[in-house]
Amino acid sequence: MARPSVDTVMREARIVSSTGVREASIAIADGTIVEIGPDETMPAAREEIVLAGATVIPGAIDVHVHFRDPGFPHKEDWTSGTEAAAAGGITTVFEMPNTDPATASVAALTDKIARASAKAVVDFGIYGNVADGNHDALEPMIEAGAAAFKIYMGSDNPLVPAPSDHTILAALDIFARHGMRTTVHAENAAILVGREARLKAAGRTDAAAHLEQHADLAEMEAIQRIALYSRETGAPIHIAHLSSARSIPFIEAAKREGTDLSCETCPHYLTLSTEDGARLGANFLRVKPPVRGPEHKAPLRRALFDGTIDVLSTDHAPHRHTEKNRPVIWDCAPGFPGVETSMRLMLTAVATGELSLERYVAMAAEAPARLFRLAPRKGHIAVGADADIVVLDLDRRERISAARLHSKGNATPFEGMETIGLPVLTMVRGRTVMRAGAIVAPPGTGQRVTMAV
Ligand code: NCD
Ligand code: ZN
Repeated sequence: MARPSVDTVMREARIVSSTGVREASIAIADGTIVEIGPDETMPAAREEIVLAGATVIPGAIDVHVHFRDPGFPHKEDWTSGTEAAAAGGITTVFEMPNTDPATASVAALTDKIARASAKAVVDFGIYGNVADGNHDALEPMIEAGAAAFKIYMGSDNPLVPAPSDHTILAALDIFARHGMRTTVHAENAAILVGREARLKAAGRTDAAAHLEQHADLAEMEAIQRIALYSRETGAPIHIAHLSSARSIPFIEAAKREGTDLSCETCPHYLTLSTEDGARLGANFLRVKPPVRGPEHKAPLRRALFDGTIDVLSTDHAPHRHTEKNRPVIWDCAPGFPGVETSMRLMLTAVATGELSLERYVAMAAEAPARLFRLAPRKGHIAVGADADIVVLDLDRRERISAARLHSKGNATPFEGMETIGLPVLTMVRGRTVMRAGAIVAPPGTGQRVTMAV
């Protein structure tokens, strides 16, 4: 037998991209896909993965996760968070700056890159934060390796206070020069702060007060304002976690007007509504922006599945059960873990025929890779790309159980839901990281992503 010339051949894959399905084998050397073609043309390999017609897709890219490291290690750290991602078929994450310290300086960014490099099992990009007073740090943070920046327009978190409109515009001038897309938490901070004070003064402690505070007016206003700023400065914008059906026309209008604006939504807005409060506890459901009434769910699903919303992210925001289940709504930690359950929830929509697997690949891998300048290395199964590949079992029926998830965030709103379809193998740059639900690669396997120029 010939001496192996490549590391791995994945034999007889059914490869799905946004444009269709191809039956072929995949050869991998040094973490890169080097050949795709008929099985008999594959070079000899040190390792063979016999797929026998199993479906493979590019690893998902989640541009919105909170891994809490440094600052909140009881909620998550870079190992637990990326192991959860790998188990969920996610091969690249972009991590948010609301850690302690916030990622708002070169020192904080450099420290976070070092932590992630030592602990991660999937690839990662780190968000820098835009804050009043850190303008002079933005260019140096780009040089130090920030993957993108976050603007918390609507924030009541003292670690990442909402910057002024002046600060936002000055930052966008810089990012426009770099052609760097900025992810925006689009809610109007003054509305949130004013309403919270008024609701608290009125003695409100119930779950509905959170919805009154985060009226979707605050989201619609902020989308319009940031779209205007984007057109004025030329900076590309990505709207985080779209939560209201009423915001969709504002996204469509911005795109029609030629704004370089993209948009994401998350599984909780697609799968849950306030009606689930009865089952889960209304306070447990707290997330920012909120999971709203049932009338929002179907329009958001349609907009994501038809491409009006470009990207599926998770806003993976892990907390402990004890932090979420509290009698006063203002004391309940907002958010849920998401990286491990996102793909299987969407594969369930594929199984029922509501979503095509081609469109799933577009919104979970191809679009984020294109928008955040990771393509052509990431987001595609193609010669020359990183071998970030996920093998699926499209028929596998299983119930979601927090006890079996890898995240330290042990409070999932999807507990008990039956899903159809599961990632069964996750490969990052040619290295198998998850096989049959088990993590099989050590911390340090993940690397920082670099932007294509
Ligand atoms: C986020 C978190 O927990 O980090 N929670 C959330 O509800 N989305 C914080 C935030 O982005 O507001
Ligand atoms: Zn978030």
